[in-house]
Amino acid sequence: MAIRNIVKDGDEILTKVCRPVEKFDSKLGMLLDDMAETMHQADGVGLAAPQVGILRRVMVVDIGEGVIEFVNPVFVEQSGEQECVEGCLSFPGEYGVTKRPYRVVVRAQDRNGEFFELESEGFRADACCHEMDHLDGVVFKQRAVRMLTKEELENMK
Ligand code: NI
Repeated sequence: MAIRNIVKDGDEILTKVCRPVEKFDSKLGMLLDDMAETMHQADGVGLAAPQVGILRRVMVVDIGEGVIEFVNPVFVEQSGEQECVEGCLSFPGEYGVTKRPYRVVVRAQDRNGEFFELESEGFRADACCHEMDHLDGVVFKQRAVRMLTKEELENMK
């Protein structure tokens, strides 16, 4: 496993639409392992492949319950609404308020190509939405109703 470099704000790769994964090989496994390690090392709760420079529909989420790997994820259900405070490893130090569905069901493949469906609510639903946006070249600042002020950031510490 290896720590990969996280692409930062201003890199146009963050605006690109990712292509689906077609080959479920050891290279994909290595990408997923590296993404999880990179996310943990950066203290993040999610990471999408374009953030490590790979334009494929791959993402990992870990809100403290263990790593969940998603390949070619799609929403099959979205319901409710919640207000979230989001940051992003590609936008260090910036946080914004977003509106996301409260509950989502995501259908995806695992590293072996097996399909699964995962229902999430609350924070994990937010994390899934944030990472899936990255796969379509959308970042949280585009979704943000407003960004947090310096004062609000101070109070978060
Ligand atoms: Ni992000």
